[in-house]
Amino acid sequence: MSEQALQTLAQIFYLVSAALFILGLKGMTKVKSAREGNAIAAVGMLLAVIGTLIEAGRIDYRWIIGGLIIGTIIGWIGAARVPMTMMPEMVAIFNGFGGGASVLVAVSTLYLLYLEPGRTERLADVIGGSSALTIALSILIGGVTFSGSLIAYFKLQGKVVKSEPVLIPGRHVINALLFLIPLAVGVWFAFGQLEPGMYALLAWVVVVLSLILGVMLVIPIGGADMPVVISLLNSYSGLAAAATGFVINNAMLIVAGALVGASGLILTKVMTEAMNRSLSNVIFGGFGAVAEGAAGGGEYGPVKSGGPEEAAMLLDAAETVIVIPGYGLAVAQAQHTVREMADLLEARGAKVLYAIHPVAGRMPGHMNVLLAEADIDYEKLLELDDSNRELRTADVALIIGANDVVNPAAEKDPASAIAGMPVIQAWNARSVIMIKRSLSAGFAGIKNEMFEYPNTMMLFLDAKKALQGIVGELKQM
Ligand code: TAP
Repeated sequence: MSEQALQTLAQIFYLVSAALFILGLKGMTKVKSAREGNAIAAVGMLLAVIGTLIEAGRIDYRWIIGGLIIGTIIGWIGAARVPMTMMPEMVAIFNGFGGGASVLVAVSTLYLLYLEPGRTERLADVIGGSSALTIALSILIGGVTFSGSLIAYFKLQGKVVKSEPVLIPGRHVINALLFLIPLAVGVWFAFGQLEPGMYALLAWVVVVLSLILGVMLVIPIGGADMPVVISLLNSYSGLAAAATGFVINNAMLIVAGALVGASGLILTKVMTEAMNRSLSNVIFGGFGAVAEGAAGGGEYGPVKSGGPEEAAMLLDAAETVIVIPGYGLAVAQAQHTVREMADLLEARGAKVLYAIHPVAGRMPGHMNVLLAEADIDYEKLLELDDSNRELRTADVALIIGANDVVNPAAEKDPASAIAGMPVIQAWNARSVIMIKRSLSAGFAGIKNEMFEYPNTMMLFLDAKKALQGIVGELKQM
C-alpha cells in the first residue's frame, strides 16, 4: 500500500473510533446501557491504537511490546487488588499517569523533531507555530494533572499528605505566576527566536513549574472534596491529551482528549450540584476541614434501637420497602445480602425499590456499581425525585450505611455544612430502619437528627451482619 493510502486508512480508523467513543459515552449515560457503552468505547480505543500504528508506519515494536507488558501488569494488578472503597484513589492515580504521559510526549517531541546538532532554524519554523505553543501547554496541563493527582491520591489516603486543607499565604499570587510563566514560554516558543538549547531548558522549566502548580492547586482543598477534584483532574488529563494531539498532529488524540475534558467537566458539575456547592467554592473555599468519618457529630437524645428480629417484623408486614444504600453498604460489601433479603420480601408480595442519591458512597455511580454486582434489576433503581415521591407512601425506608444523603439538616438547618444539598427524605416513610454500627457521623461530620425521630429504629450492626440476621429471621417467619 502506498504511503498516501496508509495515511487515509489511519484517518478512517480514527473517524470510526471517534464515532464509537461518542456512542460509548452515550451508552454510559444510562445504567441499562452502561456496560454496552463501555464495550463500544473499548472497541473505539482498539481502533484508535491500530490507526496510530498504521499512521506511524515502520516503528520499532520492541518498545511498544515492552510498554504494553509493563502497562498491562501494573493496570491488571492495580484493578484486581483495589477494593471498591479505594476506587477514587485508583482513578486519581490513573488520571495522573495520563497527565504524566502528555508531559513525556510533549518533551520527547521537542527532542525528536527539533533538537539535533547544527540546528539553526526556530522551533516554530520546524514544527509550526501552533505545535510549538502547544508543547508548553501540553507540559503545563499534563504536569498539573500529574502532581495534582498524586496529591489527591495521598490526601484520600490521609497518610503522606494530611487530608485537611493546607492554606499557604499568598498562594493565589504564586499560582498566577506559576500559570503565567509557562504560558509566556509557550508564546515565546511560537513567536520568539531562541538558541536551540534554550528550548530544551525552558521546556524543563515548564515541567518543574507545572508540577509545583499541581501541588499548589490541590493542597488547599480538603480531603472531603477530593472526589470532585479528581473528576476535575480527569477533565484536565483530557485537555492535556488534546493539547498533545496538537503537538504531534494527531486528530484522534484531539477528539478523545476533548471528549474526556468535556465529560469530566460535566461530571464535576453534577457532583458539585448534588452537594449544593459551587466549583469555585470547592477550589478556593478550603472547605472539607471536617475529617472523614469524624466520630461524634453531636450529642443525641434518646434513640430507639432494635435488632434484626424487630427489623424483619417491620419488613415482613410492609407492602413497599425503599432501600437507601450508602457508603456503609460498600464498606460491609453487603450488596449480595441485600439482594437475598429483597428476593425474600418480593416472594411475599412486597414491592422493593432502591433510592439512589447521586453522591451516595465515595464516587459517582458507587451504589449503581454495587447493586449491579448483585444483579439487582436497574429498573428498580430510583433517582432522587422519584425516590422522594415513593417514600411518601412507603411502609419502610431501609437505610443501609447511608447518613449524609438522608440527613434532614440539609433541608431544615440553614447553618448546616450540608445546607441546601438535595437529600433522600427517608423520614417520610411510615417506618425507618437505619443500619449502621454506631451514632457516628458520616462524611460531612455532622449530627443526623433522624436518629431521634419517633418513626426511626436504629439497628447498630455491621450492614452485612444486620442483613444476614434479617434474612435469617425472614426465613423463619
Ligand atoms: P456517609 O454520610 O459517609 O455515611 C456512611 C455511614 O455508613 C456512616 O455514618 C457509618 O456509620 C456507616 N458505616 C460505615 N461502615 C459501615 C458498616 N460496615 N456497616 C454499616 N454501616 C457502616 O455516606 P453516604 O450517606 O453514602 O453519603 C456520602 C457522603 O460522601 C456525602 O457526604 C457526600 O457528599 C460525600 N461524597 C460523595 C461523593 C460521591 S461522588 N459519591 C464524592 C464526594 C463526597 P457507623 O460508623 O456508625 O457505622
